[in-house]
Amino acid sequence: MPKPEIATFFDPATATASHVVYDHPGGHAAIIDPVLDYDAKSGRTARHNAQQLLDFLHAQRLTLQWILETHAHADHLSAATWLQQQAGGLIGIGQDIVQVQGIFKAVFNLGHDFATDGSQFDHLFADEEDFYIGTLPARALSVPGHTPADMAYQVGDAVFVGDTLFMPDVGSARCDFPGGNAATLYQSVQRLLALPDDTRLLLCHDYPNNGRAIAWQSTVAEQKQHNIHLHQGISQADFIALREARDATLEMPLLILPAIQLNIRAGRFPAAESNGVAYLKIPLDML
Ligand SMILES: [Fe+2]
Repeated sequence: MPKPEIATFFDPATATASHVVYDHPGGHAAIIDPVLDYDAKSGRTARHNAQQLLDFLHAQRLTLQWILETHAHADHLSAATWLQQQAGGLIGIGQDIVQVQGIFKAVFNLGHDFATDGSQFDHLFADEEDFYIGTLPARALSVPGHTPADMAYQVGDAVFVGDTLFMPDVGSARCDFPGGNAATLYQSVQRLLALPDDTRLLLCHDYPNNGRAIAWQSTVAEQKQHNIHLHQGISQADFIALREARDATLEMPLLILPAIQLNIRAGRFPAAESNGVAYLKIPLDML
């Protein structure tokens, strides 16, 4: 089993881990879930997080082959399009993103110019689709539940799981966004936990609440033993009850409205208006 090189960059503002996975220095890389900085108070974007990713590519002399989104994130804006403009590569996401685009086209009452066919992305992955990152064999694994369109990306002995499992002491991703489903997430996680025990699981977020240091890597064995929501032996019914009770207490993420509007466009801004400024919408009393 190939053991890819992985470098992770954590954004404290959104608690997001962006990963660079590559075959060797001077080789080929994929970036998973890059963050575009966004100041909710001013509406201003910035690229400090994304620039760190770009600097790492340059330092390791890596060719950016893929920019992979595990899903349309609700907690941060994607830097996929900006990174592509700087370094090339194809932007990929799961093919069911078309469902998410349909849901949010209605929420934001987007016009005919917003296509719901995934064409904003360069590649739509099917479940179990194989691809390469340089010499590394990779595979897309459909893991919906948090949203209808979540993909995990398996690269050698590592799997980038997106918003499914979190660190064992944090548990699992919420399932209460439009199109989310706790039973579906349970089934998706069983798929991840059926992988070999020593499989490295690379997470999308960390929210430690007990003072431990930020972490973004676990293993199948650790999750089966210790995940507070989904350790081995928890039934689907128990998980659904626990997940739905917890979700009922959660507020919407701070950035869900701006994030979704960019992320269903692969991180592109909406078209600028006649004054050259791009605007986002706020639907009142919808979410
Ligand atoms: Fe998410």
